[in-house]
Amino acid sequence: MNTVIEVRDLTRRFGDFVAVDRVSFHVEKGEIFGYLGANGAGKSTTIRMLCGLLAPTEGVAMVAGHDIRDDARKVRAAIGYMSQKFSLYLDLPVRANLEFYAGAYEIESPRKRVQEILELLDLEVHRDQITGALPGGTRQRLGLGCALLHRPEIVFLDEPTAGVDPASRRDFWRLIRSLSREGTTVFVTTHYMDEAEYCQRIGLMVDGRLAALDTPRALKRDLVPGRMFRVSNVDERASRAVLSGMSGVVDVQPFGTRLHVRVRPGGPEAPDLGKQLSQAGLSGAEIEEIEPTLEDVFLAVVDPTKGSAAA
Ligand SMILES: Nc1ncnc2c1ncn2[C@@H]1O[C@H](COP(=O)(O)OP(=O)(O)O)[C@@H](O)[C@H]1O
Ligand SMILES: [Mg+2]
Repeated sequence: MNTVIEVRDLTRRFGDFVAVDRVSFHVEKGEIFGYLGANGAGKSTTIRMLCGLLAPTEGVAMVAGHDIRDDARKVRAAIGYMSQKFSLYLDLPVRANLEFYAGAYEIESPRKRVQEILELLDLEVHRDQITGALPGGTRQRLGLGCALLHRPEIVFLDEPTAGVDPASRRDFWRLIRSLSREGTTVFVTTHYMDEAEYCQRIGLMVDGRLAALDTPRALKRDLVPGRMFRVSNVDERASRAVLSGMSGVVDVQPFGTRLHVRVRPGGPEAPDLGKQLSQAGLSGAEIEEIEPTLEDVFLAVVDPTKGSAAA
């Protein structure tokens, strides 16, 4: 294993407020590391420290072999950063934006590199279009292109797909996976739980703390114990009330018009749930067992009374 990010007890306070609270983890070369959490959880603050842009209050972090405190400049040269409010010149064509960043990074053979990036990110057909007129997904690809110009070994992407349509998000993740296959380490934040499935490991931030860290599969196994059932074809609010009060049911969450019902190990089976509903006058429910999603993991972590401790 080749550790490229190593973080120990990283802490950042703003006055009395602790935005990042003794966070520790490491990331291996080529890994796609997802950093998840609600708004205000401390994701961007962590990234800004790891990119050498914000000094930690306490703790240490090594990024690409450099200490973020002592060698912030070397860190910045080794990494690419696409911030949450990544700025592109909206009135310039795509190619001009890349050329601008190529100049800023003092890249050798900038023309050649810009051409490579246009091809790598499927931006060739957009090269002469005005950046401000691009659809959101294309604009985000251009942002990623700018962050990759100087061939960084690690890229930090802060909510790169926020507000982008689902098809473009899938395209973007295809690019992220191909970068990782070629050895670039990707540190990415998102609040789309479905996207987090693409990450090899996930760190879950809750109120500045790293509440959980593992592969998506292990998180589901460890943090969503028992079994999950999906209940559909029945009034959602009424069934929720009925099932929430049932013995052995740990949690009931609405997902659209359906419910996800989590039961304790050894708890009720699908027919038991159905019976409970029909006794309450709610007949015709369709109930099937499902795998937990990362959304379920997140809910279990955010409210630990419904997590493993309660099972
Ligand atoms: N410069 C700052 N001064 C004061 N508070 C800040 C500053 N930057 C971030 N915060 C606060 O720290 C918390 C974490 O913010 P942030 O890291 O941006 O969260 P996230 O990216 O997970 O949404 C928030 O409550 C935010 O208001
Ligand atoms: Mg943020």
